[in-house]
Amino acid sequence: MCGIVGYIGHRKAAPLILGCLRAHEYRGYDSAGIATAHDGKITVKKGVGKIAEVDAKYDLEDMEGHAGIGHTRWATHGAPSRANAHPITDCTGRLAIVHNGVIENYAEIKKELARRGHKFKSETDTEVAAHLIEEYLKNGLEFEAAVGKAVARFRGNYGFAVLKAGEDKLVLARNGSPLVIGFGRNEVFAASDVPALLRHTREFAFMEDGDLAVIDAKGARFMHDGRPVRRRRMHVSWTADMAQKDCYPHFTIKEIEEQAASIPAALRVDVGRAAKLVRAAKRIHVLGCGTSYHAGLVFKHLLARAAGRECEVFVASEYGESAVMKPGTLVIAVSQSGETIDTMMAVRHARLHRAKVLAITNVVGSSLSRGADANVYINAGPEVGVVATKTFTSQVAVLTKLALAVAGRKVAVNGFAKKVKDVLALSGKMKEIAHALRNTDDFFFIGRSLSAPVAMEGALKLKEIAYVHAEAYSAGELKHGPLSLIAEGIPVIVIAPAAGETHHKLLGNIRECKARGGKIMALSDSSRLLDEGKWKVPMPPVSEELSPLLYTIPLQFLAYYSCLERGFDPDKPRNLAKSVTVE
Ligand code: M6R
Repeated sequence: MCGIVGYIGHRKAAPLILGCLRAHEYRGYDSAGIATAHDGKITVKKGVGKIAEVDAKYDLEDMEGHAGIGHTRWATHGAPSRANAHPITDCTGRLAIVHNGVIENYAEIKKELARRGHKFKSETDTEVAAHLIEEYLKNGLEFEAAVGKAVARFRGNYGFAVLKAGEDKLVLARNGSPLVIGFGRNEVFAASDVPALLRHTREFAFMEDGDLAVIDAKGARFMHDGRPVRRRRMHVSWTADMAQKDCYPHFTIKEIEEQAASIPAALRVDVGRAAKLVRAAKRIHVLGCGTSYHAGLVFKHLLARAAGRECEVFVASEYGESAVMKPGTLVIAVSQSGETIDTMMAVRHARLHRAKVLAITNVVGSSLSRGADANVYINAGPEVGVVATKTFTSQVAVLTKLALAVAGRKVAVNGFAKKVKDVLALSGKMKEIAHALRNTDDFFFIGRSLSAPVAMEGALKLKEIAYVHAEAYSAGELKHGPLSLIAEGIPVIVIAPAAGETHHKLLGNIRECKARGGKIMALSDSSRLLDEGKWKVPMPPVSEELSPLLYTIPLQFLAYYSCLERGFDPDKPRNLAKSVTVE
């Protein structure tokens, strides 16, 4: 959802900013640009396309100056175009700004500024910020006071970095859209998230909503409601190498393969305190979006089955409208990034109703983790591919451990790491199947009980990176409507671990599909179920509790290879971004 980078220090800003933007590209990639300050002037270079395309056209490294800002965009207001690309400047050209988020009341401010003679060059909401700051500077305010006064007028979510000619500092503002500050030696960086800066530092401070920060080569000052505040510095354990592609062609396949280590690591995470919170709670609400929502659904099944406890799972963006809030509620907020605005808003709603919040996230220092009563980190390491792969299985691993811990049980992990490796060895088989299905445009995914959310996750992956229509159903639901769509040749992917109490019913559902011409792809450790498949994906035997961890992996391969078969880039699916910080 747009990546922001800022730099001020002893080195040339543009090449550094460019490197950080490349590491930030998963946040948006429809246009990019950099502005630097030098010799009392601002220079801006920007254009449409991925960063490499913009760089090839405009040579982004070739800019003078030791202070600058950069941006990679995921368009909200105004189509991807050179004019709408950031940095955006004011009328004087002496001020440049980059923005992540949405200024909801920009239209009224734009009218007011236009009446005062400001000339707008873009369709972005961001441009009102540039002109409003310009207006306050004209009225005699200092740089940071002008930024503070401008952002005080905005409704919505924003992260801003502002550069002004002739100033040895950058001013940053945050409300809802993340901004982190990284500290080097005689140089200070800013970015939308930690991985963008790992090449240069592992020392970070995290801005809070409502903060203004001023950075110069020596450090950072923070203000909140006009008063100075302290923001603790943290050392992060992630390294830059963890966020490299290494010898893999894409982050997506690297991260799928990394599950050999990330699943066992997540199964070692301590969930003791979290289990106590769950046991003590009168009621449990689980919140998440997309893949994280699916992890929540797996948890719901497990908690009911293992611990006899009920919980409700909400798509986070619907929580405020649909949850009945009662005292004693524990909210379990699941979010890989810990920055998803829908999840953050749902948590805010829960907090207003005095719910306790347990965050399950991957990113230490993320907004969600900082605002929670308790945290469990899934320890998956940085995930760069826009599709969630290893972080989904790590979420599920941690939530499985949690559900069993609530019941006073432990996960039986003996030999499980070997099974993960055996499933990863199915890569070639899934590649062949993806090739066979390269011209197919409709897929169905079905499963029962714990496998129903796995089916949903498989369908989401395929839609997200292969741009193929895919539906997921709890298998028993097919006959209540969607069965009418099963016609000759439609692939039906069946998640069928033999350990499930429901697999005999699943057999019935498979037959219903076959009778209508559906072509079955069976994922199972039962030869009886595999025999039903035109495509057979033999799985190692596994307890039903741990089956989602294994059965997700072939579906990730299927999506990855289907994406390649269709000629798309799996790391950067169209219209999407890794961290969704707009509602
Ligand atoms: O960072 P989060 O887990 O909160 O992200 C939630 C969703 O945006 C995310 O899972 C999305 O659905 C993935 N790109 C799916 O692969």
